[in-house]
Amino acid sequence: MIGLSPEQRAILNGARGPYLAKCMRWLVDWGEAMGATRLIPVDNTHVLLPVPNLVARGASKETIEHYVQDLKEACSHRTNSRCVCTVHTLFVTLDDLDVPENDPEQVRMQREITELATAAGFIPTFTCAPYLVGNVPLKGEVCAWTESSAVVYANSILGARTTRHGSESAIAASLLGLVPEFGVLLPENRKGTLRVEVSAALNHPTDWGALGYFAGKLAGLGIPVFNGVRRPSQDEAKQLCAALATSGGVTMCHIAGITPEAPTLEAAFHGEVPADFVSFTDATLRETYASLRDHTGDEIDAVILGCPHASIREIAEIASLLKNQRVADGVRLWVDTARGTKANADAMGYTKIIEEAGGKILCDTCPTNMRIAARRIVTHGFKQAHYARSMIGAEVIVASTEACIRAALAGKWLGDE
Ligand code: F3S
Repeated sequence: MIGLSPEQRAILNGARGPYLAKCMRWLVDWGEAMGATRLIPVDNTHVLLPVPNLVARGASKETIEHYVQDLKEACSHRTNSRCVCTVHTLFVTLDDLDVPENDPEQVRMQREITELATAAGFIPTFTCAPYLVGNVPLKGEVCAWTESSAVVYANSILGARTTRHGSESAIAASLLGLVPEFGVLLPENRKGTLRVEVSAALNHPTDWGALGYFAGKLAGLGIPVFNGVRRPSQDEAKQLCAALATSGGVTMCHIAGITPEAPTLEAAFHGEVPADFVSFTDATLRETYASLRDHTGDEIDAVILGCPHASIREIAEIASLLKNQRVADGVRLWVDTARGTKANADAMGYTKIIEEAGGKILCDTCPTNMRIAARRIVTHGFKQAHYARSMIGAEVIVASTEACIRAALAGKWLGDE
């Protein structure tokens, strides 16, 4: 049972209007279901405000309008003054992109919501990697984040604390400045549950994605602890966290000797290091790649980079691999990133190089969210490959950025080397 302060109870009873009462009800019911005993202040939220792509799923106009009305109602309230509130990806881009997947009516509704959301205090980052565009919570900061990959990153790499949020709970947290206290918000629930000894050579971010994809499957809802690895780069950590949250329901991990709460293997397991462990060897690495390479031919029609959204360093690498070359006819090369990162790419000349090569930098969304019509996709993200296969029904090949670009230029999969 959650104990509420008099002020919280008054909100629940409608003192600040029916919408905030509904928000309080969401937090209380969810918290009670999860065993929370109180609501605690939240410093930082990352919310979902997309107009859903319901047309593609056969929903009626009325259903879409009902959903949009809900979003408008949420955005008619100010965000809590103590909270930094950023926004997750959309299902369309707000740019005038003339492709069938960017439904103009959906874009129009999304622009309306965006205007209301920014006036309410939501920062229009429209990204799945908020930590790349200024939302970087400190160690111990309480957050309410949607986007499972970002949740793992916040908990594991930054040492912040957030459970996995859905649309309603993150909106409620943003407006009320509260979250129910359970799960990894409590120190005792941040103890490692699965020991992974890593001997494979991890040479680039996609290799780290493979490690995450492997461990996520085994860890389920647990907390994997990686031992024997060097410090990952930011891009490598991004791929690790995204893949962990894709094959499993992982909320956080530890990297022994690296992440904030795991200066040692003992610390990661709160002093009780299990004798049993699973190994991630060079052979496991190869098998993990093979599990997301199911193609019946080598011709490709899409190359998707930037899952999770690309950093400026990744865009620089892509531009340098594409310079003075041309993407093969019939291949869509899309690099997904946040608008803020694209502004830097514009200023540094990377956008021009990518566009001159026939590629496109896509902001606000990603091809999986847009339900890109593609038959065979090459990508450097294990998460993108997993969902492109299950949600779009495409054949997928996951590979390093370099191998992806080689495929884009040739119009067909050429292998890793
Ligand atoms: Fe982001 Fe889309 Fe990947 S939302 S994490 S680029 S599937």
